[in-house]
Amino acid sequence: PPKQRLLVVANRLPVGARRKGEDSWKVEVNVGGLVSALMGIDEFEVRWIGWVGVNVPDETGQKSLTRALAEKRCIPVFLDEEIVHQYYNGYCNNILWTLFHYLGLPQEDRLATTRSFQSQFDAYKRANKIFADVVNEHYKDGDIVWCHDYHLMFLPQYLKENNSKMKVGWFLHTPFPSSEIHKTLPSRSELLKSVLAADLVGFHTYDYARHFVSACTRILGLEGTPDGVEDQGKITRVAAFPIGIDPDRFIKALELPQVKDEIQRLKEKFSNRKVMLGVDRLDTMKGIPQKILAFEKFLEENPNWHDRVVLIQIAVPTRTDVPEYQKLTCQVHEIVGHVNGKYGTLTAVPLHHLDQTLDFHKLCALYAVTDVALVTSLRDGMNLVSYEYVACQASKKGVLILSEFAGAAQSLGAGAILVNPWNITEVAASISYALNMPDDEREKRHDHNFMHVTTHTSQQWAENFLSELEDTVAEAQRRT
Ligand code: UDP
Ligand code: G6P
Repeated sequence: PPKQRLLVVANRLPVGARRKGEDSWKVEVNVGGLVSALMGIDEFEVRWIGWVGVNVPDETGQKSLTRALAEKRCIPVFLDEEIVHQYYNGYCNNILWTLFHYLGLPQEDRLATTRSFQSQFDAYKRANKIFADVVNEHYKDGDIVWCHDYHLMFLPQYLKENNSKMKVGWFLHTPFPSSEIHKTLPSRSELLKSVLAADLVGFHTYDYARHFVSACTRILGLEGTPDGVEDQGKITRVAAFPIGIDPDRFIKALELPQVKDEIQRLKEKFSNRKVMLGVDRLDTMKGIPQKILAFEKFLEENPNWHDRVVLIQIAVPTRTDVPEYQKLTCQVHEIVGHVNGKYGTLTAVPLHHLDQTLDFHKLCALYAVTDVALVTSLRDGMNLVSYEYVACQASKKGVLILSEFAGAAQSLGAGAILVNPWNITEVAASISYALNMPDDEREKRHDHNFMHVTTHTSQQWAENFLSELEDTVAEAQRRT
């Protein structure tokens, strides 16, 4: 039988495009947790709908790019520069992202943000409408439509207004904050109501789901039930679906000759040092400056480790048009320079900082040779890097230091060393503990996490969400 069709709608497509000529494009894989998770789905006939990430003002370009992306089963949504500025840089990444991660804006940006709030919110709705139009154009009866993330909170409502029979799910890849935080958003009610138009609303953890339901009861005055939220007899199912990775993709990669070579190269390069690793988009919520300060404190307190340890920090450039991210880049460079200036020697530095994206095979090799991974997010929806590290550590059984504010702390908490990333004294002590950990404890902790990562995959996550969505729709039909 033909596979069930699934339209996956997310702001970012799994591939991005670079223009090579009038009508030729180079298509390349994008980086980020959402993309990594959804790449593993193969039970369904999947079509992706999303923004291409570049401005394509001309028809020739739009047509040729549409053709190039069709080969990857991707359907582009074209947004002009002004909308991208207001919707993506502004409302999504300056306002929603910041708020959902409990970050707060710097004092000097607050008033400007308050002033531009309304126009950015209008652009957000306009962008969501453009996404809805593309979905409607490609929708066929019976399709499942799965909307993703904070960029598309209006999409469920726009889709249902046009066709109430459409099966619509929405999943949030970030935390959903306490209702006290959500309450401060001028658009607090409209956002909640439009999400509630979906049949099923999913989050990474029970806490996020509970926060969402509280926001609906306290702000909208609706009734929370054990299954979700009820509005005049219409129930929106709300539940937790913790995401995972495709562990086999990593485990298999470690067997490839080019990855083995790279592992060997790295081992030789760092033969007399323990390797610590951070892999993050260069985002304030990842707590990169805090991590480096903790590393500095560790060096300060442990002179015997100075020439025996290295911290490699991969900081993938991201959202570079948003001022907050530009400031962070400068701040991080300054701290990195400071630490290397202080603890480096003529021939070596303790901190390797790369503002770069690594390709998949290089990343796997790096995960495999790492003794201690440091994930110090100030908040993080889940954090897949922690999962990927565990998947690559079957032979080394390295230690994971993990922020208690990452969703992953709820699943990998028993095997990882949990830390409060704001407390650099505690993180520095954990680094010391991790580097000195006896073999049997390392093994026990690793085995625990490895079991979890290999039994809670992205494939299962998607299947669980989608079968719950089908059940919810069937149940609603029975009731009416
Ligand atoms: N990633 C990558 N290349 C890099 C750095 C990161 O492909 O150089 C991927 C990484 O493998 C992971 C994703 O980016 O799958 C980051 O996901 P995570 O959930 O940790 O954080 P997010 O970026 O979604 O906040
Ligand atoms: C997070 C978000 C995703 C986003 C990714 C990369 O994982 O939840 O929706 O795609 O970061 O960010 P970007 O703004 O480059 O898409």
